[in-house]
Amino acid sequence: MAVIFSRSADKYLRLTVLIALFGGAGAIGLIAYLSHPAVRDTGYAPAQPVEYSHKLHAGNLGLDCRYCHSTVERSAFAALPATEVCMNCHARVKKDSPLLQPVRDSFATGAPIPWVKVHRLPDYVYFNHRAHVTAGVSCASCHGRVDQMIVVKQTAPLSMAWCLDCHRNPDASVRPAEQVTNLGWQPDRDAAEIGREIIQAKGIAPPTNCSGCHR
Ligand code: HEC
Ligand code: HEC
Ligand code: HEC
Ligand code: HEC
Ligand code: HEC
Repeated sequence: MAVIFSRSADKYLRLTVLIALFGGAGAIGLIAYLSHPAVRDTGYAPAQPVEYSHKLHAGNLGLDCRYCHSTVERSAFAALPATEVCMNCHARVKKDSPLLQPVRDSFATGAPIPWVKVHRLPDYVYFNHRAHVTAGVSCASCHGRVDQMIVVKQTAPLSMAWCLDCHRNPDASVRPAEQVTNLGWQPDRDAAEIGREIIQAKGIAPPTNCSGCHR
């Protein structure tokens, strides 16, 4: 469905069903609730063109996030892997699996796999992965336990209030750089205390002024 319909079309389809179920008054409340920025996209988990599982590859097999999202430490965007990265293994592993047919087709034709984007900020917001990852903010703070997800799901609202909450009080969200992609990291003492030490040592100061995030 999510491949055929746009994200908003899917939302309207669900709304139509809800209106049919609960009637007009309930539906108006629901529209107000769903269009509030803070709750808009949490839970969004579109179907993907290949049944690729992070739980299997990042969780069970233990592949580091940066093996596939190789630009996340050095650029604003966290690139998706090229088909060649999948074929590093799948030229041999499960090489006749029907689930991997779209991957083999993409490799043969050179046409990229049409992955459906899950997280999206409005264009007027400035966001940079490198700034966060090198400061020690874990993928888990913003994307949840992706290593336990079969299908990637948006866990944070990505609203302005959500960004600002962390920027105003980042202590517990900053960890040693080598633990950023270790999503299940358990600190051996108070996380906020560890974060405060790193913030002081590195002079970390997330922006809270309007021009810090808006251009
Ligand atoms: C073997 C390759 C591979 C590894 C390893 C991997 N990913 Fe991914 N990731 C993908 C692919 C392919 C997609 C696009 C399809 C999807 O969303 O499932 C993706 C999508 C995502 C998305 C959603 C992007 C969007 O559209 O908004 C996030 C977030 C993400 N990965 C985080 C992680 C994190 C965190 C780790 C480490 C725990 C990780 N990935 C490890 C291949 C990988
Ligand atoms: C480091 C090796 C490795 C890489 C890289 C890798 N995979 Fe896998 N993949 C595996 C292994 C191992 C399995 C599990 C095989 C099994 O169940 O015996 C698997 C299973 C799968 C399956 C399920 C196949 C089935 O028939 O059950 C899919 C789909 C899949 N991978 C897609 C991908 C995609 C898409 C990429 C690239 C984004 C990718 N894989 C990258 C090793 C890898
Ligand atoms: C501070 C929050 C934050 C952290 C930390 C973070 N991300 Fe993201 N990520 C986002 C946001 C916000 C987007 C949507 C960006 C957009 O639409 O411009 C995103 C998008 C993505 C995407 C889709 C491609 C893109 O860049 O738009 C992938 C893949 C991804 N993140 C992977 C990761 C991985 C892997 C890590 C850890 C190494 C990570 N992210 C850490 C917030 C974060
Ligand atoms: C979990 C904590 C956390 C969240 C959530 C978060 N940030 Fe940040 N942000 C930080 C930290 C820590 C820094 C690093 C500041 C430094 O190094 O001085 C930072 C730095 C920045 C910077 C300045 C660095 C640069 O790239 O120019 C911008 C802009 C920014 N964040 C935007 C955002 C936006 C937009 C969102 C929401 C979509 C967001 N952040 C969500 C913690 C967070
Ligand atoms: C830490 C980053 C950050 C800072 C600082 C920030 N914003 Fe935002 N702002 C965002 C993000 C992210 C969104 C998009 C929210 C969404 O899509 O729900 C946004 C959205 C907005 C919107 C559109 C609201 C809407 O409902 O569509 C306005 C207006 C706005 N910001 C004004 C401001 C003003 C004024 C300031 C300074 C007082 C400010 N912002 C500071 C991140 C930030």
